Amino acid sequence: MLVSTSVETKRNLILNTLADGRFHSGQELGDKLGISRAAVGKHVQALQTLGLEIFSVTGKGYRLSNKLDLLNTETIRQHIARTSGPPLVVLSVVNSTNTYLKEHEQLHVKGAACLAEAQTSGRGRQGRPWISPFGASLYLSMYWRFEGGYQMLGGLSLAVGVAIATALEESGVQGLSLKWPNDVYLHGKKLGGILVEVEGQINDTSHCIMGIGINVELPESQQSRIDQPWADLASQMNEKPDRNKLSGKLLTSLYNALEKFEQTGLKAFLEPWSRLHLHQGKRVRMICGPNNFEGECLGINAEGALLISLPGGTKAFYGGEVSVRAL
Ligand code: BTN
Repeated sequence: MLVSTSVETKRNLILNTLADGRFHSGQELGDKLGISRAAVGKHVQALQTLGLEIFSVTGKGYRLSNKLDLLNTETIRQHIARTSGPPLVVLSVVNSTNTYLKEHEQLHVKGAACLAEAQTSGRGRQGRPWISPFGASLYLSMYWRFEGGYQMLGGLSLAVGVAIATALEESGVQGLSLKWPNDVYLHGKKLGGILVEVEGQINDTSHCIMGIGINVELPESQQSRIDQPWADLASQMNEKPDRNKLSGKLLTSLYNALEKFEQTGLKAFLEPWSRLHLHQGKRVRMICGPNNFEGECLGINAEGALLISLPGGTKAFYGGEVSVRAL
């Protein structure tokens, strides 16, 4: 029995017990934590608000809709192809893994990473929220610093996209593509996204946080919250992917890609990115605030800008507040 522990520790203990997907009575959980059955009920409600599907059946207790393979630092490390790794923090619930890395200066070491089971304020591009239910996806951020000023960082998010696709392909995922500038697609639907946040001055050190969200198995209760066609790995693979193994593979692929990006910039990623490009040679609409442009998508240039053939000639679109849609 636990004597005095934080709310988070209590909720983690409840989750670790329920992770086997079997029924556990309120009495059993209460005894483990040294709290009443009513208090267990309140913690379970709080866990449900994080997107966890926990059923409650009178006389039987509580059960998770599916078995949960919780993220574990040691297990992830076993799948990282490096002997001595940079810091790795695995959290249960956090506002945003990007924010966590930003706010913890001791983690401002190349390759330091943070993963979480759930985010309460996950962020996407263009100020959109990133729906982050518990245990359903991977929410991962990595820190890196680059010398030479942020003008050197054109195309960084494209290199990150190639790193993600490489790790997923090595894990047996087929049907992947990349949508400019930051999306990972599976069979034509969005599987994940990349949010690169950079702080730094011109010609000085740039502190970069690469945030990655990959849908693994989205619970039914959360699916209607996503406002575009989406995909998750579980529905496309024969067995539910092992999130710890996948995290290790993604982290390894990211380290390798960022080291390479440091040496060559986008150059080494142009060919693999173009091979994976969702809209290569297709007609698209570019949406830049109130302005729309329609034309053939020619691919990317050496700086990572998207080239569109328009009636007046070829126009290069650089990142920021630009979106691309197939016609
Ligand atoms: C997008 O497609 O709009 C980008 C989504 C990026 C989501 C990830 S999840 C981990 C990291 N933390 C965040 O708050 N956002 C990124």
